Amino acid sequence: MSDAKMTETSVPVVTIDGPAGSGKGTIAVKLAQQLGYHYLGSGSLYRILAYYRLQHMPDTDDLQALLERCETLRIVFRPQGDEGDVQVLVDEADVSDALRTEDCGGEASRLAVRPEVREALLKKQLSFRKAPGLVAEGRDMGTVVFPDAPHKIYLTASAEERAQRRQKQLRKQGISASLDRLLAEIKARDTLDKQRPISPLRPAADAVRVDSTELSIVQVVARIAALVQQA
Ligand code: DC
Repeated sequence: MSDAKMTETSVPVVTIDGPAGSGKGTIAVKLAQQLGYHYLGSGSLYRILAYYRLQHMPDTDDLQALLERCETLRIVFRPQGDEGDVQVLVDEADVSDALRTEDCGGEASRLAVRPEVREALLKKQLSFRKAPGLVAEGRDMGTVVFPDAPHKIYLTASAEERAQRRQKQLRKQGISASLDRLLAEIKARDTLDKQRPISPLRPAADAVRVDSTELSIVQVVARIAALVQQA
């Protein structure tokens, strides 16, 4: 089928869900590059909403106004280089660094539990499904957003390994943090993500589980690419 003739639901989607620190962001970007697919980092959409609120509407509780203003934002993910990095553009402005701040993350978490936010972002997420294909990464890609995706991955890694990865990442940014504290934070976040009433983090019934604890990024990407190409 030519790209132009693909209907929206015939466009293949690879969903990659998993807990914080499982490596799903890096792996999803690299996989999208390898397959020549589009990439959607759904966490960034929650972060963009949070950023927009903190920047433009810090004093209002009018969620509806925020959602209406954000509906028209043009969001582009642009994978960069070969390390799994991605530039996030909102109406052409590069907001990649701003989205990574703790403030933005905290506000994103608070917004992510609101049903009206999830409903508004659902439409936005579906609009990324374009030929020749999409790699969509997050918490509920396989369960809620793209339940008909032909390829679903649930990526895990032990909490200890994820804490070590986070420590390394922070070290690169010149920040030192104790492993015990990071481990406790990761466990607390896992519990919150898995127990929240809407769109909790859980594997779709038809997801393939990949444990990245003992694997390198290259090995995980190769394993998922093989699963997609075998099908
Ligand atoms: O993965 P992240 O840290 O960039 O995600 C930011 C927030 O958005 C985090 O609190 C989890 C939430 N999120 C979500 O609820 N559903 C998704 N599909 C992706 C992220």
